[in-house]
Amino acid sequence: MDLQASQIVQLFDKRIAKGLVLDLGMGNAHDLAFLSKAGREGIGYDKDPKCVINAKAIAQRYNLPITFEVSDIRNLNFPTNKFVAVIAVNILNYLKKVEIDRLAKKIVQALVPGGLVIIQAFNLDDNSATKSNGFDSFKYWFKSEDLQKVFSQMDLLYYAYQVCRSDCLPSKINMHGDQYRGTISFVSQKRRVL
Ligand SMILES: C[S@@+](CC[C@H](N)C(=O)[O-])C[C@H]1O[C@@H](n2cnc3c(N)ncnc32)[C@H](O)[C@@H]1O
Repeated sequence: MDLQASQIVQLFDKRIAKGLVLDLGMGNAHDLAFLSKAGREGIGYDKDPKCVINAKAIAQRYNLPITFEVSDIRNLNFPTNKFVAVIAVNILNYLKKVEIDRLAKKIVQALVPGGLVIIQAFNLDDNSATKSNGFDSFKYWFKSEDLQKVFSQMDLLYYAYQVCRSDCLPSKINMHGDQYRGTISFVSQKRRVL
């Protein structure tokens, strides 16, 4: 398969239990395709019907146990204690802060105890906004402590920040030309019930 998962998803692959994975704004579904090869199932949502058609074709071609639906992730409600991981890679910047806060509460509820939320997002601290073009659709740029605060009821497992050129971004997706972006990678774990 020629699809490569995000670096952060590859890094935590072994820590994700077998079970159902949720991918929010899955795009071409490279992360779910990668994770499903190790015996997990998955569901991905994207508001762009073209992404869903493309992702369904990939799942069918490689016979992967993953399904996709067209949906705006701001309007979704999830079952409680259902997912072993929730992936939100390069999607949260498209939401307003109040929408991110609301979604985060739903994510925590939807994870099984011990489940992981895996996030990659762009932040503002490195001045990347001024170096970038074509990001008019971004509604929120993260600051360093934002995600820790948003997921404060979970246990932080990983936080990394790097400035990278678009051609070295993990997914190698270069939709907006050559740009520098401050990128946060963040993983937290839902507390197990004692
Ligand atoms: C930059 S792409 C990232 C795709 C994928 N997660 C990845 O890492 O390659 C952002 C995706 O989020 C989708 N998206 C943006 N806002 C959305 C929303 N409110 N609900 C669902 N999908 C959304 C876009 O259609 C696009 O496919």
